[in-house]
Amino acid sequence: MVILKSKPEIEAMRKAGQLVAACHKALAPMVRPGGTTREIDSFVEDMIVRNGGQPFTKGYKGYPYATCMSVNDVIAHGFPGDEPLKEGDIITIDIVARLDGWLGDSAWTYAVGNIAPNAQKLMRVTKECLELGIRRAMPGSRLGDITSAIQTHAEKNGFGIVRDLLAHGIGRSLHEQPSFMHVGKPGKGMRLKEGMVFTIEPMLTEGSHYMTIDPDGWTARTFDRKLAAQYEHTIALTADGPLVLTAQ
Ligand code: MF3
Ligand code: CO
Repeated sequence: MVILKSKPEIEAMRKAGQLVAACHKALAPMVRPGGTTREIDSFVEDMIVRNGGQPFTKGYKGYPYATCMSVNDVIAHGFPGDEPLKEGDIITIDIVARLDGWLGDSAWTYAVGNIAPNAQKLMRVTKECLELGIRRAMPGSRLGDITSAIQTHAEKNGFGIVRDLLAHGIGRSLHEQPSFMHVGKPGKGMRLKEGMVFTIEPMLTEGSHYMTIDPDGWTARTFDRKLAAQYEHTIALTADGPLVLTAQ
C-alpha cells in the first residue's frame, strides 16, 4: 500500500531532507586523503543530533552506524572505520535522518583527491542516471518511465545497474511502497500519483551488476570487485512535478 503525503506532510519531509542535504554539504571537505570514515560518521551523527534529529540508520535492523560508508568496490551499507581514505578512492556516503517523525534519505559518491578517468566517468554517469530518473517522476507517468531511463543511460555507457538493492517509498518509515529496481520498460509499472514520496537511488558498476555480502552481514560489494557509485535523492511528486526534498 502506498501512503500518499499531503502538502504539509511533504513540507515536513522537506525539513528532514534539508537536514540530510546540509550534512552532505558540511562533510564534503572531510572527504580527503588521510581522513577516516569514522570521523565523518561521528561528525554527521553530531550534526543530526545538534539539529534536533535522529540518525535513523543507527540501530535500524541492527545496522550499527549513523551513516553508510561504501569505498570503491563497496556498493552500499559499508561500515565506517579507521582506515584512512587514499587519493584515488571513491566513496558513497548514505545518510538517513529523522526530524519531527519524518525521514529524509540521500546518498552521494565523493572523489578522494584526484581519481582515475574511469572512476570520474562512473560517477558522472551515475549522477546523470539520478537526474534523468527525477525528470520523469511526474504524476500520471509510470515507474517504468523512471527506471527505463536510468537503465538505458547506464547500459549505453557500458555500466552495470544493480538489481539487488531497491529504491523505496519513504515517510514515517524508511521502507514503504513502492519498492523497485532501477530497471524497467517505459509505460510499465505502477502509475505515479501526486503525494507519492520515494527515493531514486541508482547504483552503477564498472563491471558485473552482481554483488556479494561480507561476513559482517551488511557490506555489499561488487561480485568482481570493480568500482560502484550511487547517487540518491528523496523525491515528492507534486502537481507541478518532482520536488527534490534532499536537494543540496
Ligand atoms: N539509503 C539506505 C536505504 O535506501 C539506507 C538504509 S541503510 C541501513 O535503505 F543500514 F539502515 F539499512
Ligand atoms: Co534509500
